[in-house]
Amino acid sequence: MSIDPVLLAIHDQGTLFEVTRVIVSATADVDELMRRVARTVRERHQYGFVLIYLSQPDGGLRLAGGAIGSGEPNPGALDDIINRVVARSQSRVEAGGRLWRVAVPVRDDGSLLGVIALGLDGPVRVRGRTVMLAETLAGQIAVGIQTANLHQRQIELAAQLERARIAREIHDGIAQSMHALNLELESCAIVAERDDDPLRGRLQNLVGLARNTLLDMRSYIYDLSPIVPGEETIASLVEMQTREFQSISGIPVRLDIQGELPELSASVCAGLHRILQAALGNVLRHAVASEVIVALAAESGSVRLSVKDNGIGFDPERPTLGYGLSNMRHRAEDMGGTFEVSSAIGAGTEGVVRVPVPGVPAR
Ligand SMILES: Nc1ncnc2c1ncn2[C@@H]1O[C@H](COP(=O)(O)OP(=O)(O)OP(=O)(O)O)[C@@H](O)[C@H]1O
Ligand SMILES: [Mg+2]
Repeated sequence: MSIDPVLLAIHDQGTLFEVTRVIVSATADVDELMRRVARTVRERHQYGFVLIYLSQPDGGLRLAGGAIGSGEPNPGALDDIINRVVARSQSRVEAGGRLWRVAVPVRDDGSLLGVIALGLDGPVRVRGRTVMLAETLAGQIAVGIQTANLHQRQIELAAQLERARIAREIHDGIAQSMHALNLELESCAIVAERDDDPLRGRLQNLVGLARNTLLDMRSYIYDLSPIVPGEETIASLVEMQTREFQSISGIPVRLDIQGELPELSASVCAGLHRILQAALGNVLRHAVASEVIVALAAESGSVRLSVKDNGIGFDPERPTLGYGLSNMRHRAEDMGGTFEVSSAIGAGTEGVVRVPVPGVPAR
């Protein structure tokens, strides 16, 4: 018995309506959206499977959402038809015996966003209307992907604004009070020194503590501030940090920036900033140094940043409880680089980080 084509067309319209409802329900999670679309379509048409693949930045595809009935092929068995759709950017139908598959590109302004594939191992024959339905669904999926991306961007923007707000509040509030407390403690320590007050030692400890806290606070403010690619150069970041360290610690810093430095990505700038912050923190907490040299230079195929102090030094072979040095090493390695520390008791300390950068010619 054949089904009235008008009823089938109405059923297809119903599917498109349901999918539109899923898409406008607006989720920022594109995979969740694709799963819901796939499930809706499969359930309404009793297809064996509905799979939605999305294009990746590296040019490949990944399965973002799928609804698969029992006894259907695993997604790997569809590689061939999917690859053909991608290569030609055209819909494709394959049918033989009881088996049929339809795969359609999901496009936006000519660029390929993904592929939707559906099919069945069963008695339903593929018809022209199935291809038309899949092509219309592909258009809806393209809108869905853009809506989800927009939603995601809005969430990120809201989070960034909130972080910037917290950073501003710390900067204008606690950091200012901490600074004032610091100055006040320092003058108390000076008076106590003059009067040979027994409180002298304690006040000096408090001064150290307050300086450390202020330095930590500066690094929280930096962590919370959005990193805008291209806004800061690594040289300006290092200059700002060393200036800040010098004014908080009172330890003179010699800054040595050499050569033409390449533009670094925001994540490499952030990584180097945090390594420098931890290294300067160590100088303040442990070194008892009277001078620090911070050097930044473009080297063969990489950028080199070092922090050298003339303090008491330590034995790098001796295990310690801290995480600072190992964090610095991990951060450097995450950027594809290295971190080395050299020190000896009584002979100061030097930490060197090297990060490979494509823009710097290898010698
Ligand atoms: N510049 C330095 N001068 C002297 N000693 C240092 C210096 N840098 C590190 N050290 C020694 O190495 C140890 C390990 O440093 P690390 O940064 O790993 O830990 P930490 O500073 O003790 O704690 P945190 O986890 O807060 O960084 C320090 O405790 C200190 O004894
Ligand atoms: Mg440390």
